[in-house]
Amino acid sequence: MFNVIYGVLAFTTFASHATSQQLNSTGSDVTVKWLEKPPKYNNGVTFGLPWARGQHLANATTFTASSGNNDPVQLQTWVTAYWPDGSIKWTGHAVAGSESIYEEYHVVANGLGNATSSSREKRAATLGGIRVRDSSSGIEVDTGKIVASFPKSGAALVSSIMSHSGKIVGENGRLVLRSQSGAEDDDKNGSQSGIKYWTFSSKIYNVTVSTNSSVRALVTVQGIHQEDGDSVATHKDWLPFTVRFYLYANSEALRIVHTIVYDGDAKTDFISGLGIKFDVPLSKEELFNRHVRIAGVDGGILHEAVQGITGLRRDPGKDVRTAQYNGTQLPDKSTWPTNVSGKLQWVPSWNDYRLTQLSPDGFNIKKRTKAGQSWLKIPGGTRAGGLAYLGGATVGGLAVGLRDFWKKYPTSLDISDAATNQGSITLWLYSPSAEPLDVRPYHDGLGEDTYAKQLDALEITYEDYEDGYNTPYGVARTNELYIYAFDSTPSADKLSVLTNQTSEPPVLIATPEYIHSTRALGSYWSLPNITSDSVATIESHLDFVVKFYENQIEQRRWYGFWDHGDIQHGYDEDRHTWKYDVGGYAWDNSELSPDLFFWTFFLRTGRADVYRLAEAQARHGGEVDSYHLGNFTGLGTRHGVQHWSDSAKQVRISTPVYRKAFYYLTGGDERTGDLIHTVLEAEKAFYLVDARRKVRDPGVVYHPDPKALYLNFGTDWAGVAAAFLLEWERRGPRWEEARDKLIETTKSFPKLKNGFVTGEALYDSTNGAWAPPPTDPENQGNVSVSHLSAVFGVLETIDELTEHYAEIPKAFTDAWLDYCYYYGASKAEQKARYGRDFGSLSLRQGHSRLTAYAAKKRNNATLAGRAWNEFLNDNSPDELSPTDPWTTVRISGSQVLVPVDEAAWITTNAAALFGLAAIENIALLGAPRS
Ligand SMILES: *[C@@H]1O[C@H](CO)[C@@H](O)[C@H](O)[C@H]1NC(C)=O
Ligand SMILES: *[C@@H]1O[C@H](CO)[C@@H](O)[C@H](O)[C@H]1NC(C)=O
Ligand SMILES: *[C@@H]1O[C@H](CO)[C@@H](O)[C@H](O)[C@H]1NC(C)=O
Ligand SMILES: *[C@@H]1O[C@H](CO)[C@@H](O)[C@H](O)[C@H]1NC(C)=O
Ligand SMILES: *[C@@H]1O[C@H](CO)[C@@H](O)[C@H](O)[C@H]1NC(C)=O
Ligand SMILES: *[C@@H]1O[C@H](CO)[C@@H](O)[C@H](O)[C@H]1NC(C)=O
Repeated sequence: MFNVIYGVLAFTTFASHATSQQLNSTGSDVTVKWLEKPPKYNNGVTFGLPWARGQHLANATTFTASSGNNDPVQLQTWVTAYWPDGSIKWTGHAVAGSESIYEEYHVVANGLGNATSSSREKRAATLGGIRVRDSSSGIEVDTGKIVASFPKSGAALVSSIMSHSGKIVGENGRLVLRSQSGAEDDDKNGSQSGIKYWTFSSKIYNVTVSTNSSVRALVTVQGIHQEDGDSVATHKDWLPFTVRFYLYANSEALRIVHTIVYDGDAKTDFISGLGIKFDVPLSKEELFNRHVRIAGVDGGILHEAVQGITGLRRDPGKDVRTAQYNGTQLPDKSTWPTNVSGKLQWVPSWNDYRLTQLSPDGFNIKKRTKAGQSWLKIPGGTRAGGLAYLGGATVGGLAVGLRDFWKKYPTSLDISDAATNQGSITLWLYSPSAEPLDVRPYHDGLGEDTYAKQLDALEITYEDYEDGYNTPYGVARTNELYIYAFDSTPSADKLSVLTNQTSEPPVLIATPEYIHSTRALGSYWSLPNITSDSVATIESHLDFVVKFYENQIEQRRWYGFWDHGDIQHGYDEDRHTWKYDVGGYAWDNSELSPDLFFWTFFLRTGRADVYRLAEAQARHGGEVDSYHLGNFTGLGTRHGVQHWSDSAKQVRISTPVYRKAFYYLTGGDERTGDLIHTVLEAEKAFYLVDARRKVRDPGVVYHPDPKALYLNFGTDWAGVAAAFLLEWERRGPRWEEARDKLIETTKSFPKLKNGFVTGEALYDSTNGAWAPPPTDPENQGNVSVSHLSAVFGVLETIDELTEHYAEIPKAFTDAWLDYCYYYGASKAEQKARYGRDFGSLSLRQGHSRLTAYAAKKRNNATLAGRAWNEFLNDNSPDELSPTDPWTTVRISGSQVLVPVDEAAWITTNAAALFGLAAIENIALLGAPRS
């Protein structure tokens, strides 16, 4: 975990002060606004801000905040990245929960000595922050609204949650897991006795709390799932987890980021339920004052009481009935008509409720009086909000919600034992009502037992298969949940709003103008600026592509436990469907950088829909498409039918360049920070896995030597370089090593006679130095140019490195600009410069951004013309051209399963590179030349 290196106390300030204190330097007073409309409740938020180089020394700057209307705002600040000169590059900030909702906040960077007046410091103290008590047995966090206790051992992650007025409304919060050794259909014709079933609960082994917790406290709990029961375990502990709890001053919410890593055996470890369960004490509440609330569709809420007094044959009176419906305490029973109060023993109470969302299109709800009696159906609906409340009018209660509940189907919510002294809520991230989670390979290998056969199969299905590589061992999944604690049953309106906020947590963000001005995310993008008709056309096409993917996600139902956040790769025009079942064409796994396209598009526009699209990708790719355990740790998987099915394991998929904007804009999302650190491990994976083992020249032996790894600069080094740059910026535990390796690469790489045109060479993972490839030990100059090298973020990483490291050797930059120039140059020019041409290369439109980069850096107007020509006139299957239809066709009726909007002329390769090249060419060159 990234440790806070430099923290600043919370100060309050006022708008008037902010103005009078405005420093002269750029970006000293920064406005952040809500990504969407201002939320109805503010339960505390974290956000990130970039700062231009040289503006604010980390050890001489404090940060204060004000709202737009003079209200004091508590702010906690930490530094998430530094420029090499020690100035601040990125900060993370937390603001506390507040009753007032502000349209915007101003964050001011103050030099020390000018920071704050003592009166304002006093004012800050009276607001009260978070109180944290850390002892050997546990951690207690008091937000001023709730107190949560986190034990340091045992099964419970949260032992109790106390509401504002001191009621315990939640207890024994633990993780639950069910699994089985096989799937039922294996035993279709026989008895199922062969299948074994297990239940597990969390076992904690490490609990820590953030050191700087004035406004936000972060409790991190690590552990593993352990088989239940006292007898000898028949299943090993498995499914390690990291669960993070974020608590904010003056907030009644706990935000939870829940991560598991799959470390089972795909053939014998079927997850059949994965969840988090809280007990809710109810002993002091009458059955008719106990309430169940379950979020339905579009803000809808199911209103139920454990013992209903509405709809009965005899009427207790309107006040009694509406109070129960509203969730308030009923008038004393002695005031009710006796023909109701005297007969309550005949009115059944409802002990258990169960909502199951087994598809993105529908959910069911049912309830029962107790185990052993029949369930009763409650009408369900389409897409449940994913939040449930259990509690009482006087004892209070707990609401538990899962973000993207229906998008992560199969999910479910259980309310159990509501009619007993201790009820419970279980939020199932994987529903026990669904079929068990089957992560086995989807085919049996088809006899592909040699590289020759595997390569032949690649020719037809485009799948790169190899036995043993199609494994989910080491993939992960992260879910976001919220817990809300109440003194009494909240209004349905409030739960409705909280349901919405659970699924779209409020985000604070700086303007595109400001982010751009700092150059903290490179200089390869600009703000939209319609300077000509041709630019207007390109902008409208960018918008088309973004909306197309948003629409396809919905129409094609790219949702599910593993799948949410991914898109698909290729389109089958005959069946009017994406090639979800054809080898290498199915899940995209970030192929050719759609993530980078969407993030960059968001940065320049600030568009909320695009943020949400890119955010889901950031939460998917780094988890499900990447490995966190085992030999592949740090690598990802090439596109395929299952997220892990392809045998090409490379860092080009796991590269943190796809998550960098998300990481910093969220103030350093800690889980994403972990993912970035994992990519540093790819250097080790390189000598366990030879990425080009099937296509090596037979004369070249791959030596698994950490000092001489035979790597490609684009598909291998670039991903690690992105991780190194982040580590250097973050000053993480390995930052000096990361910096030194990057610098060594910038010195040694240009010594390869043909620079980047060499393609693959020997990398020394102990120090970052490069040496000529084994095919050219004398460094006479290899020419090996691949269309894939520059389509996984290498340009963007080198540009960000250049912005960061001002002393970058000119030889390195020249070598890179030569590559940028010559990739799209004529064969004659290539031959004249390198002695031979590069052969036939594809992805010219995508590479036009390299040409544009060279044109800009070398101030070459002719080259700018060539870049636009490559962009507009690629005329290959892997591009989008101005003459494409730029419209979708509705396919319906018996032609398709469900009506869809089709654009058969789009592939994700083309869309991703079109998007990135369009954005970068406009940024670097301005309008296309006619
Ligand atoms: C602000 O900067 C400008 C130009 O850099 C300089 O002329 C001016 O004196 C500065 N003002 C203050 C208050 O520092
Ligand atoms: C602040 O940081 C700068 C740059 O890292 C350093 O030169 C200076 O000595 C530091 N000052 C203090 C007071 O620590
Ligand atoms: C305090 O403010 C003054 C004037 O705004 C400025 O000249 C000075 O550098 C500031 N001091 C620090 C330590 O930032
Ligand atoms: C415990 O967690 C902290 C913070 O997440 C981490 O730094 C530390 O390495 C962990 N310790 C163990 C033994 O895993
Ligand atoms: C919650 O979101 C749904 C769907 O966007 C919307 O229809 C509803 O009005 C929202 N409810 C509240 C209370 O904001
Ligand atoms: C129930 O709620 C409605 C709407 O908020 C309110 O008008 C009514 O007075 C409430 N009734 C009782 C008995 O609390």
